[in-house]
Amino acid sequence: MNYNNILFSVEGSVAVIKFNRPQALNAINPDVLKDVNAALDEIVKNPLVKVLVFTGEGDKAFVAGADIKHMVTLTPLQAREFGRVGQELLFRIEQFPMPVIACVNGFALGGGCEIAMSCDFIYASEKARFGQPEINLGVIPGFGGTQRLGRRVGNSMAKELCMTGAIIKADEAKNIGLINRVFPAETLWEETMRTANLIASKGKTALKGIKDCIDRGSDMDLINGCRMESDAFALIFTSPDQKEGMSAFLEKRTPEFKGDLY
Ligand code: CAA
Repeated sequence: MNYNNILFSVEGSVAVIKFNRPQALNAINPDVLKDVNAALDEIVKNPLVKVLVFTGEGDKAFVAGADIKHMVTLTPLQAREFGRVGQELLFRIEQFPMPVIACVNGFALGGGCEIAMSCDFIYASEKARFGQPEINLGVIPGFGGTQRLGRRVGNSMAKELCMTGAIIKADEAKNIGLINRVFPAETLWEETMRTANLIASKGKTALKGIKDCIDRGSDMDLINGCRMESDAFALIFTSPDQKEGMSAFLEKRTPEFKGDLY
């Protein structure tokens, strides 16, 4: 399929979605949301893909937010629909049945920061900048930023960032726990792909189990979370990957994971 607003590729077991509107710092409009949804449809049909990476085209931006030119004339009902479609996509990314990494190469502002936060974890270049600057436009975050930011960095830090509209550097984003790692701009892509390929060498079923247990468990109390983990742990013993992983260890060889239980 041809896309106008993203670049989509599959490199081995890793799918890459690159936001591609550099003239608008990769800002998000409804067409971008459609393209990303269509690429996700392609990925779920491809059994070879085990990890998804989001990044931005150019050296300046991951995504500088929702497209302000698109939003400036929206009616309240249109704004609600734009927010709804954006939020649905971010739920889809968050619940996507494989690990999803945000490789943040530049500005991740507003909707861009929100997209990154819907990924399982964030790697960033030293040049990356993060923030929810919607307050400066007289509005509030609309793709889940008021909800996911506090869950990542705590409500008081989320309030400070959203209320001031501050744009923070990558090392500060790491210090507050928003992102996992910071790399020099020249090595960000290589490091991201190294991790993506390492994860892709693991078993699909176990990867989904980890993602599901950590995400669902964070909304549960500890006892119920651990019970859910026990059920997932038991289920995985029906997977060929469990036999392969444990046999390979005992036979002192590298495992070859091929199973996909779900
Ligand atoms: N929407 C539309 N166009 C955008 C954009 C956006 N979010 N961000 C940047 N652009 C455009 C600029 O208008 C400019 O276009 P022209 O060359 O045609 O004038 C081009 O991208 C380059 O941008 P700048 O000249 O502004 O570049 P800069 O280096 O001086 O500044 C920046 C970079 C600090 C990121 C600045 O562009 C900026 O502040 N952008 C807006 C960031 C923002 O407010 N994001 C939140 C949007 S609201 C939102 O996302 C709501 C939500 O939760 C869903």
